[in-house]
Amino acid sequence: MQLEALRLVNFRNYSEQEVAPGSRLNLLLGQNAQGKSNLLEAVYLLATGRSYRGAADAEMVRWGAAGFAVRGRVQRAYGEVLLEVAYQVDQRKRVRVNGTDVRRLSELFGYLTAVIFSPEDLQLVKGGPAHRRRFLDLELAQIDPAYRQDLIDYQQVLVQRNNLLREGGAVSAASASRRLGPRLDLGQLEVWDEQLVTLGARLHAKRARAVRALSRLAAEAHRRITAGRETLRLAYLAAAGPGGRRVEAEGEGAESTPEAFRRRLAEELERVRPLEARRGMTLLGPHRDDLLLAIDGAEARSFASQGQQRTAALALKLGELEFMREETGEYPLLLLDDVMSELDSGRRRFLLEAAGERAQVFVTATSRRALPAGQEERAQVFTVEQGKIAPGGEPLSEAGTV
Ligand SMILES: Nc1ncnc2c1ncn2[C@@H]1O[C@H](COP(=O)(O)OP(=O)(O)OP(=O)(O)O)[C@@H](O)[C@H]1O
Ligand SMILES: [Mg+2]
Repeated sequence: MQLEALRLVNFRNYSEQEVAPGSRLNLLLGQNAQGKSNLLEAVYLLATGRSYRGAADAEMVRWGAAGFAVRGRVQRAYGEVLLEVAYQVDQRKRVRVNGTDVRRLSELFGYLTAVIFSPEDLQLVKGGPAHRRRFLDLELAQIDPAYRQDLIDYQQVLVQRNNLLREGGAVSAASASRRLGPRLDLGQLEVWDEQLVTLGARLHAKRARAVRALSRLAAEAHRRITAGRETLRLAYLAAAGPGGRRVEAEGEGAESTPEAFRRRLAEELERVRPLEARRGMTLLGPHRDDLLLAIDGAEARSFASQGQQRTAALALKLGELEFMREETGEYPLLLLDDVMSELDSGRRRFLLEAAGERAQVFVTATSRRALPAGQEERAQVFTVEQGKIAPGGEPLSEAGTV
C-alpha cells in the first residue's frame, strides 16, 4: 500500500502542509526539533487514530490554534481510500473514511497500516510485559476487526469484574477464615467470568498464533542481520496463577483453539478465585500475559547486551512488517524515527534493503550520511525545517557530503 498524499493543518509545528511521498524510500532530513517526528506522528495517526508517542490529542494541536486536521490519500490493491482525522479543542476527535464520518475510532483501523520503529522500541525487549502486549495488540488490531472489537469488550469486562471483586471481595480480619469476601456477588461474578473467558480465549488464540508466525519471521530477519551467528526465538507466555507463567512453545498446535484456551482459563480462574477476592483484581487472562524473546536460548530481557537487544527489537519489527503482509496481502508503511544513528552501517543497509524494496518507508535523519551508500539515489529526499517540508535536500549544510 502507499500513502500518496498527506495534508496537515495546524498539526504540531505545521500550519498548512502538503506532502507527496515517493512510493518507496522517503528520507526526511532536518536538524533537531524541525518537525520530522511530528510528520511521522501524523502518518501514524492516520493509521491508528493515535500518537505513537502517546501524546494526547490536545498536545498535537498547533500552539494557539483551535484544532488540527490530518488527511491522507492511500492507494490500496482494492482502490483508493481517503482518510481524515480531525480534532477541535474540547470536542471529540472526528474520523472520516472516504468522506463519511465513522462512529468509532476503531473503524479507522485497517485502511492504512503502519509499523513504527523508534529508539523507544528497545523497551519491547528490555521493558516490562505491557510493552509487548501493546505491540501484539496494535499489530493484530490493525489487521483484524474482530480482534479489535474483542479487545475493547474484554477491557470493559475486566474493569467491571475488578470493580465487583474490589467492592464485594474485601475480607475483613474477622472473616479471614472464609475463602471469599462476605459481600461478593457470586452470581454476577459468574456472568463476568463467562464473558472474560470467552473473549480472553479468543484474544489468546489469536495472539498465540501471531506469535508463532512472528517467531518464524522475526527469526528469519534476525538470522540475516546477525549473519546466522545467533538465533532469536519467540514464545507466548500465559499468566498461570500469581507470579507464574506458562511458556507456550512454537509447535503447540492442538492446544491453541479458542475452545482449549477457554477451558483452561475457566479452570484456572476457579482456582485463583479466593486470591482474586482478597486482592480485588483479575489475576489471569490476556491482560497479564507476555511475549518471551530468547537469543540462543537465553531470555533477551535479562541476558542480551544492548546491541543484541537493539537487533532483537529490529528483527521483531521486521517480523511484524512481514506478518502484516502475510495476513493482508500488502505491506504496511514502515516508519523509522531516528533509528539510523543507533544502528551500524551493516544493520542500516540490511534494514533499508529488506524493507525499502517492498514497502513504502519513511526515514528521519539529521544527515544524509544516515543512508548507506547506494540507497541515496533510490530515496525521495525531503527537507524539514521549522514546520515546513520541501522536496529535495539542498538547504542542509551536510548536503552532498556523501
Ligand atoms: N503542539 C505544538 N504546536 C507547535 N509546535 C509544536 C507542538 N508540539 C511540538 N512542537 C514543536 O515541534 C518540535 C519538535 O518537532 P519534532 O519532534 O518533529 O522534531 P524532530 O525534527 O523530530 O527533531 P529531532 O531530530 O530532535 O528528533 C518541538 O521543538 C516543538 O517546538
Ligand atoms: Mg524526532
